[in-house]
Amino acid sequence: MDNSLAIDVHNLNKSFDHIPAVINLALQVKTGEIFGFLGPNGSGKTTTIRMLCGLLTPDSGDGQCIGYDILTQSNEIKLHVGYMTQRFSLYEDLTIYENLNFIAELYGLSDRKQRVLKNIEDLGLFDRKDQLAGALSGGWKQRLALSAALLHDPQLLLLDEPTAGVDPQARRDFWDHIHHLSNLGITTLVSTHYMDEAERCHRLAYIAYGHLLVTGTAQEIIDQTKLTTWNVRGGNIGELADQLVHLPGVEQAAAFGNTLHVSGKDATLLSKTIAPFQVAPYQWTRSEPNLEDVFISLVANTKDPRHG
Ligand SMILES: Nc1ncnc2c1ncn2[C@@H]1O[C@H](COP(=O)(O)OP(=O)(O)O)[C@@H](O)[C@H]1O
Ligand SMILES: [Mg+2]
Repeated sequence: MDNSLAIDVHNLNKSFDHIPAVINLALQVKTGEIFGFLGPNGSGKTTTIRMLCGLLTPDSGDGQCIGYDILTQSNEIKLHVGYMTQRFSLYEDLTIYENLNFIAELYGLSDRKQRVLKNIEDLGLFDRKDQLAGALSGGWKQRLALSAALLHDPQLLLLDEPTAGVDPQARRDFWDHIHHLSNLGITTLVSTHYMDEAERCHRLAYIAYGHLLVTGTAQEIIDQTKLTTWNVRGGNIGELADQLVHLPGVEQAAAFGNTLHVSGKDATLLSKTIAPFQVAPYQWTRSEPNLEDVFISLVANTKDPRHG
């Protein structure tokens, strides 16, 4: 067994009612790293996470999670993994303190009171410890959920869209904490839709239609996709986008604020197509694609196996 890998799974498959949700998925996550798991809704992220922590049995495939067999040792995995589900799953009518105390009891933790209080301190929840969970804002709820996932000192955190609908400052604080945990040696696998969060991960994987399409650092993924991107400013970029999208070599024309990103795989064809548009008021500059450009391209080039 390779101790440098917190997650090492191969050929995972899972179907629901004969419809594949996860297809031949292999995933390697190094101990201590923050690994981002990206992909559109319904692409199989939650299903994968549930297979990793032993909550769901794959139809086929195998592997280990923090050294335990995902098929036969799910009880051990649950004891050493902190799982934060996609929806807030704590008791809204209990206070922060009561929720954590209850979970500590479930885990049968010794020195419960100290642990709960230390956790409350670590996550900056002390001033609110007597507030009802149901009355907390999204950001504080998510902090409480993280605190709950950390109570039993897990080696690995599986966080399923932990910051969905949370305000930017709270998201930043949350990510600072994940980095702090990473420095302590705790591994995190986190699914997200936010590109700024993807950029805060050490490595990433992108999944679409149940297929893991690409894995690597953000830079590796950008390089691998071999996408050529031009940035356009000035003029009516919405109108320009409408004109460009149907032309040869243009895979996508996506607006980011006042800049239009025009991308394609065939650099020569793309250059030829855009040449007539490289006139005032438009200012064109060749640039590196960003992660979002790359992910849009990856999905566009992948077929949904469920719809032929
Ligand atoms: N318990 C289930 N029963 C039936 N279908 C499911 C179940 N869980 C997930 N699915 C289906 O599997 C696919 C992947 O879902 P999911 O893993 O939740 O994706 P994601 O988390 O990326 O949004 C979807 O088509 C979803 O409808
Ligand atoms: Mg999900």
